[in-house]
Amino acid sequence: MRSFVHATNPNRVVFGYGTSAQVREEVERLGRTRALVLGSPPLAALGDRVHKALESLAAVRFDGAAMHTPVEVTEQVMELVREHSVDCVVAVGGGSTIGLAKAIAWRTGIDQVVLPTTYAGSEVTPVLGETAQGTKTTRSDAAILPETVLYDVEFTLDLPVSMSVTSGINAMAHAVEALYSQQTNPVVDGWALDSIRLMGRALPAIVADPADVDARAEALHAAWLAGTCLGLVGMGLHHKLCHTLGGSFDLPHAETHTVVLPHAMAYNAPAVPEVMRRIADALGTDDAPAGVHDLITSLDGPTSLRELGVAEQDLGTAAELATAKSYPNPRELTTEGIATLLHRAWAGERPASSGRPLAALHRLTEQVVASFDRASSPRLRQLLPDLVRHLHRFVADNDVTEDEWQYAIDFLTHTGRMCSDTRQEFVLLSDTLGVSSAVDLLTNSRTPEATPSAVLGPFYVEGPPAAEHGTDISQGLPGEPLWGDIKVTDTDGAAVPDAVVDVWQSNEDGYYDVQLPDLDGPVLRARFRTDDRGRFTFRSIAPSEYPIPDDGPVGSMLDAVGRHPYRAPHIHFMIMAPGRPRLITQLFVAGGAYLDSDAVFGVKDELIVDMPRQHGAMPDGRAVSESWRLLEFTFHIAADDEQNHGEDE
Ligand code: BEZ
Ligand code: FE
Repeated sequence: MRSFVHATNPNRVVFGYGTSAQVREEVERLGRTRALVLGSPPLAALGDRVHKALESLAAVRFDGAAMHTPVEVTEQVMELVREHSVDCVVAVGGGSTIGLAKAIAWRTGIDQVVLPTTYAGSEVTPVLGETAQGTKTTRSDAAILPETVLYDVEFTLDLPVSMSVTSGINAMAHAVEALYSQQTNPVVDGWALDSIRLMGRALPAIVADPADVDARAEALHAAWLAGTCLGLVGMGLHHKLCHTLGGSFDLPHAETHTVVLPHAMAYNAPAVPEVMRRIADALGTDDAPAGVHDLITSLDGPTSLRELGVAEQDLGTAAELATAKSYPNPRELTTEGIATLLHRAWAGERPASSGRPLAALHRLTEQVVASFDRASSPRLRQLLPDLVRHLHRFVADNDVTEDEWQYAIDFLTHTGRMCSDTRQEFVLLSDTLGVSSAVDLLTNSRTPEATPSAVLGPFYVEGPPAAEHGTDISQGLPGEPLWGDIKVTDTDGAAVPDAVVDVWQSNEDGYYDVQLPDLDGPVLRARFRTDDRGRFTFRSIAPSEYPIPDDGPVGSMLDAVGRHPYRAPHIHFMIMAPGRPRLITQLFVAGGAYLDSDAVFGVKDELIVDMPRQHGAMPDGRAVSESWRLLEFTFHIAADDEQNHGEDE
C-alpha cells in the first residue's frame, strides 16, 4: 500500500482550438475590467488578436518581456499598472512573458489570464523566478499561480519546430522528475506518464508537419499535464543541473533541458529502475534514457553542451556547484558522478543503454498472461497471471542469469526429492521463507479479540490418543515437569465446553516422537476435551528449543545466509469446537531461546507465556524433587462469522 497526500492547484483551464476568442468572457468571469495585455514583438500578431478580442477591457499593452524576468522590466511595467489602474493581466507568450505576468501578480495580487504559446508549463505553477543584479531568486506563492489558462492550440501552430522540440523535452523533464519525486502520488504518476506518452508521440509528428493540429493539441495537452506535475511535486537532479548550468553559463533554458535530460535520467536510472521501465513503456522503447536521447536525435534537437557553447574546462566547476548543497534525489549525488555525467552531456554521448530488451520482455509477459484468459476457474485466472508477472519481474529486476535459474530449478528438484511420508521439505521451505506465517496471518488472524494462530508445522499427527484431564503426556520422559491448566472461551470470555484440543510438543532434547523411531507409540501428544467450564489440565515436561530438519536444501539455504535452524521452545495446540473455526497455534515459553529469531517466524507476542517455576507438590499431588513449571492460559476462540468477516468487505 502506498500512503500519499494530493492537493491540486486552484486554476481554471480552458483547452481547445480558437479558445483565445473567449478571452473577454474569461476576464469578465473574474469580474475584471482593466486588463494589461503582455506580449512580445515576435508574437505581435497573436497579441493583437487578444487585444482586439478584449475590446474595451484592454487598458494598456506591453510587448517587452525579457528572459529570466529582470526586475527592471517588471518595475517599468508596474508604472503602467499604476498609471492605467490595471486590475488584471492577460499574457500571451512563453516562459518570459508568463514570468512577467506572475511578477506583476505577486506584487499587486491582481488576477492573470494566460495564453501559453510554448510547452514550458509555467502557466500552471505557483513559482516565480526573477533576476536582480544578475542574481536569480525563486519563490513560490499562491498569488503567483495564474487564475485562468486559455490553451489555444492555434496559438502554438507557429512555434518554430526547433523550439517545439526543446520546449517539449523541457516539459517531458518535468514529468520524468515528478515520477521519482518524494512527493509524487498515483494521480501525479498517471499525469506524468500520460504526458510522456503524448509528448513522445506528438513531437515526431510536429517535426514531420508543424501544422498538424492533432499533434499540436497532444503536445499542448502533454505540456499542461507536465506543468501541473511540476507545480505539485519537488524536482531532482535534472532541474538542479539545468538551473546551475543556466545560471552560471547563461545558457538557453529549453535547450539546456534537452541536452541534460537523457544524462540525468541515466544517472538516476539504477536507483529507480521501475520508474525507468514505466517511462520506457510510455515511450515504446526498451531503455528510457537511451530512448529519450534517440528521440531528441531523431527530432534534430541539441544533444551536447558543447554545441550550446559550454567550455570543457568549466565542467568541474559546474559539478561542484551542482553538488554544493544537498537536495532530494533518488540516487546519491557525488561530485565525481556528476562530473562524469556532465562530460557525457558535453560530448553528446548516447547514454549507455542497459542493453536489456525490456519492451520485448513486457510483450512476452503479456503474452503469457493472456494465455490464461480461457481458464474456467476465476481464481486460476487471477492467480496464474499474477504469479507470472511477479516471476518475470523478479527475473528482470535481478538480472537473473541462466546459471542462476538452473540453480533455482535444481534447488527445487532437490527439495522435491527430499520429500517423503515423514519429511516435507517444501513445507520447511515455505516456513523458513515466512510464507506459511504470511498465509496464516492473512487467513486466520482477523479477529483481534481471538488468540492468534501459528503455523501447524510438520510434526502434527492426525488422531492423537484421547486423554483424561491430568494425564501425563510425557509418560515419565526426563525433563523439567510442567503442569498445564488450560481454558477455552469465546471472545467475550464465556466458557466453550466440549472443545476438542490436540496438544503436541518436543522432548527435552528437542525431538518429536515421530523423529525417534525407537520410541514406543505416541508420546508428548494427546487429545483432550474441555469440561463444562471450558477447562482441561495435563502434565508434561517443559519443551526445548530445537532445530528444524536441516540436512536438506532448506538447511543449505539457511547455512548460506548465516541463519540458524532453531525454533523457540513451544507447545502446539489445535482447538476444534462446534460452530467455530479451528484454531491452530503454539504457546512459547517466556525467556526461552530464539524468541526473536525463530527459524519459521512463528512467534507472536500474544503467544509468549510466562511459565513460572514452582516448588513443592504438583497440582495432581505428585511430589517433585526440584522445581516444576506452571502453564496457565486461556484461549479465546472466534465464532465462525467473526473469523470470516474481513472477507466480505
Ligand atoms: C514445528 O513447530 O513443529 C515446526 C514448524 C515449522 C517447521 C518445522 C517445525
Ligand atoms: Fe514444533
